[in-house]
Order: sequence, then C-alpha cells, then structure tokens
Amino acid sequence: MTTRSRKPFVPITEIEHAAFCKPADELPAKSLAEELAINIRWQKIPPEFLRYSAKELDQRIHDVREKLGSTVTVLGHHYQREEIIKYADFQGDSFLLSQEAATRPEAEYIVFCGVHFMAETACILCAPHQRVILPNITAGCSMADMAPMEDVDDAWDDLQDVLGDKGGIIPVTYMNSIAGIKALCGRNNGAVCTSSNAGKVVEWAFQQGERVLFLPDQHLGRNTGLKLGIPLDKMVVWNPFKPLGGNTREQLINAKMVLWQGHCSVHTRFTVKQIEMARERYPDVTVLVHPECPMETVQAADMNGSTELIRKVINEAPAGSVWAVGTEISLVNRLALNNPDKTVFCLDPVSCPCSTMYRIHPAYLLWVLENLANGEVVNEITVPDDVKRDSLVALERMLELR
Ligand code: 13P
Ligand code: SF4
Repeated sequence: MTTRSRKPFVPITEIEHAAFCKPADELPAKSLAEELAINIRWQKIPPEFLRYSAKELDQRIHDVREKLGSTVTVLGHHYQREEIIKYADFQGDSFLLSQEAATRPEAEYIVFCGVHFMAETACILCAPHQRVILPNITAGCSMADMAPMEDVDDAWDDLQDVLGDKGGIIPVTYMNSIAGIKALCGRNNGAVCTSSNAGKVVEWAFQQGERVLFLPDQHLGRNTGLKLGIPLDKMVVWNPFKPLGGNTREQLINAKMVLWQGHCSVHTRFTVKQIEMARERYPDVTVLVHPECPMETVQAADMNGSTELIRKVINEAPAGSVWAVGTEISLVNRLALNNPDKTVFCLDPVSCPCSTMYRIHPAYLLWVLENLANGEVVNEITVPDDVKRDSLVALERMLELR
C-alpha cells in the first residue's frame, strides 16, 4: 500500500475563496494596490504597476498591443473579470481556448487569461514555435491543486495492486487537472474529459475496462456516473490522506467508479435551498447549473451543463424568460448584461468570484505585455516533452469521441 502519511498539501481553501465574496457593486476592478491592500499574496510585480489607475492601465494596454500587433494573442476564459475580457481576442471555455491557440499560428505569444491548468493545456496543444504566458503565476485552480502528482501516483499504484488482476481500472481526468495527470491517463489507456463530454468519455472508458478512476472532481464524476445509470453504492470516494483512499479492498473491487476527493470551491456553494428560494421568488424560473455542483443541487435544477452550454442556452432563450444560474459570477453578470430582455441572476445571493481567476488583474496583463514589447518573456508556462507527449494521447482520445 503506497498511500502514506505525508505533510498535508493545503490548497486554496473555501475561506480564501470566501474572502473574495463581496457586494455586487464592489466587483469592478480597483487599482492593483487597492486590491492587494486586503493582504492577499499574489505575484510581486514592479511597484509602478500597482499604482496605475484603470484609465492609465487601459491606455497603456492599448498602446502596447498596437506595438505588438498579431505576434500576440490574448485569450480570456468566461470566468475572467470584465476588465480583462474586453482585451481578449477570443473568449471561450477552457477547452475551446486551448484549441484556439493553434488556429493562430502567426501569434508567437499566447497570453492566457485564465488559470494555470488551462495555460498548460494550451501549451500541449499549440504549435512548437508558440509560447504560452499566464499573466499572474499564482492563478491556479483550487480543484486542480487537490490532486497533486505524488498523491495521484500513490493512488494509482495502490489501485493496480488491488485491482490489477480483477479487471483493472481506467483513469479519466477532467480538463481541470495538472498536465502530469493527463499524461498518466495517456500512458494507461485513459482519457481527458470536459464538463460537456464527460458522459461520452466515461461511457467509452467502461468499454476499455471494468472500472473508472475519475479525477479530480468528485461531483462531476458522481453526476456523470448517475447520468450513465451507475448506482451511488457503486461509487466510492478516494481520500488521498487515508490508506487505500479510506476504502477496503472489497469496496474497491465492488466499485464501478472511484471518485477522487476533489471539488470546486465556487460551485459547491450552490445549494438546493437557493433553488427553492429562486423558485419561490420567480415561479417561472429555469434553474441552470454547472455539473461541478453537488449531486443534490444538480438533481434539483432544471438543467445542467458546461460554461459553453450555459452561455448558448441563455443567449438563445426567448425574451422574457427567467434564469437562475449556478456558476461563476463574472459569467453570470456578463450573461445578464448581454441579455437585457431576459432576467438572469446568480443562484447564490452573495457574489463570490473564483478567487484564482480573479488574480488576473489588468496590471498583470500590462506587465507581461510590456515585457514582451521589451523582448522579455515573463511567466512562461512550459510542459516537459514526455508529459506533453503522453497528455496529448489522452487529449486525442477525447477528441476522437466528439
Ligand atoms: P469550462 O471547462 O466549462 O471552461 O469550466 C472551467 C472551470 O473551471 C469550471 O469551473
Ligand atoms: Fe477551479 Fe472552480 Fe475556479 Fe473553475 S471555478 S478555475 S474549477 S476553482
């Protein structure tokens, strides 16, 4: 058994995420100095970038982008703040953005306004001459951080030990994971999935083996398993801090799915109570949530789907319709703004942005762009060649299923 006691790895916590919950009128970006004043520890950059006002930042970003021309492309994830999205050449979900890099070969530099695992994926999928930059190197993802490589390697060894001669297990990882886990899936007959194709990928994985190890989001794994008709008592959770993930050998042998004990601190805030309150207030409301929400919330909602699906459904909905949305607040606010003929609001009455997405402040964007204009590449994201090769196998398996 390889699971051992190890100094616990402490990812960004709910408390840290909650520190960013604020009244809706306080969401617009302040100067970086004012944002840092609440004692958060983001990447240090030269002090002048902290002092620039929103107007100065805007002017300088426009000037430097003009200078850099098409050698640079700026990508913005749906969860980015408005003050970042306005500079994005392309806006999308994590997977679309990663693919977008390769469609712009003239862009030598991809400035990825999103989080670390997304920039890594862009680096795996882009052309060899392209370099990927993450404006604030501390912009990670708390869910991805809940599955560090050494814990996953240990778990994988344990699972081989218990299940190796009992039909085995196929690893499937959600896009929101480090490149090393995608590579492990590539080397072991597994695949990557996104929230829009998790069902298809898990169904495929069951054609390859008896069981599925789903990483790192237990909620997306459970919601997907239930949709495929796998009963709850055939799904066990793997807690990396306990021997055999907190399971007996028999429980692992009897399981169809082993769910890594990870979660998204943003999406686990959405509750059944909030859904009841929304329905009380708006009897005609349609509740639409992301499948990273807990099972009870997804089952109580009317619909669930990826960020792209949420956007599409609301953008195409009839005028006058009412939507309560369970996903990150920047996207919900943008949907409300772009659909003034509909009522669109966040299920959670408290505005809680994804605190790591939020780390991409315009001052960081300016800092990386001005460095590029001076011939300096800062905050480049790289992936070792062997990890790239094996991750690509897992990504391509997913693509073949689309
Ligand atoms: P998408 O893959 O839908 O972009 O979602 C990313 C994410 O971080 C959801 O929490
Ligand atoms: Fe990670 Fe959740 Fe933020 Fe998405 S919303 S980047 S899963 S912490």
